[in-house]
Amino acid sequence: METITVRIRQDAERFTPQEEEALQWAGRVIKNGGLAAFPTETVYGLGGDALDRESSRKIYQAKGRPQDNPLIVHICRFEDLEKIVSRVPEEAVRIAEAFWPGPLTMILEKSERVPSETTGGLKTVAVRFPSHKAAQKIIEYAGGFVAAPSANTSGKPSPTLAKYVAEDLEGRIDMIVDGGQVGIGLESTIVDLTVSPPQILRPGYITKEMLGRVLGHVDTDAGSLGADSGQAPRAPGMKYRHYAPLGELVIVEGEADSAADYINRQTAADHMAGEKTGVIGSREYLDRYHADVIKCAGSREDEAGIAHSLYRILREFDDEGVTRIYSESFVCSGFGQAIMNRLLKAAGHRVVKL
Ligand code: TXA
Ligand code: MG
Repeated sequence: METITVRIRQDAERFTPQEEEALQWAGRVIKNGGLAAFPTETVYGLGGDALDRESSRKIYQAKGRPQDNPLIVHICRFEDLEKIVSRVPEEAVRIAEAFWPGPLTMILEKSERVPSETTGGLKTVAVRFPSHKAAQKIIEYAGGFVAAPSANTSGKPSPTLAKYVAEDLEGRIDMIVDGGQVGIGLESTIVDLTVSPPQILRPGYITKEMLGRVLGHVDTDAGSLGADSGQAPRAPGMKYRHYAPLGELVIVEGEADSAADYINRQTAADHMAGEKTGVIGSREYLDRYHADVIKCAGSREDEAGIAHSLYRILREFDDEGVTRIYSESFVCSGFGQAIMNRLLKAAGHRVVKL
């Protein structure tokens, strides 16, 4: 299959006639049962018609994704929510008012219209109303309900640039809408409203504190937190080793000087053993490290900047053939939780505590 790529300006709010035509084209591809990747404010998504079983099957196939890992249905109008869920609880209205359109996904009981292929056999459905204007247009042109997982091969970091979508999916999908670099760089927060109190299944830009202000008490799924909870995560996708670079990644936790000493001893030994070594460091500590490849994640003060660059850095290590990677540990409150959640998964929970 030939994959057609069309370009639109990054984060445009209004579109030129050519861009409008490109978005219409992508929408039509999806409506006709094909697959089109497009930017959202979080990461690139791989869109197919959410109400069509065959389209969902194609998505799993193109990504090499396990079929029990459900897809998020993307909508472009709040009113459409009631068409795909059995009931819209009052909490859903409140968090939609506060955070939609935006990087938040809600889990609700599904209606008959959503095929079980889309929800990986579950009776619940994940729904998101993205704020990215081009994404909204594509969803509208596609008929209003677009299943869109991150547009990567299953197990790879989610794409933050169209070139990463092409690397993973060229020849396997009909179309890529290249809208430049995405804004947030990590996937949406997922909150499950079918349990009481509501539970965060995947941390993201919309933090527990932000949700708590609107909903009162909110829990975090213990299984989503990591290896030592002994519990399976409730979002099926969170159980897979994910976001993973090809090289082995280790997170080093500890005071800055001793962490740098430890990392430098390790990279020296690894280098001698024939490994290609890499470090993910913050701007503040970057000049302390010695390794074959050193990547700056941004300032420790700037969580948004770190989130923005994380997946790109992981992919660059793959491209450069780095086999052993050491990372600083980053802030763990607020949005920082989402960063550490992804980094821990990429590391397969290998953490050295000094
Ligand atoms: O930011 C995002 O959410 C991006 C963009 C493209 O919108 N999409 C995304 O989709 O991250 P995906 O498929 O890569 O991740 C969806 C996650 C998976 O972990 C999946 O298991 C979980 O959502 N999920 C989907 N439906 C669910 C359900 N009914 N119950 C529990 N978890 C669900
Ligand atoms: Mg994904």
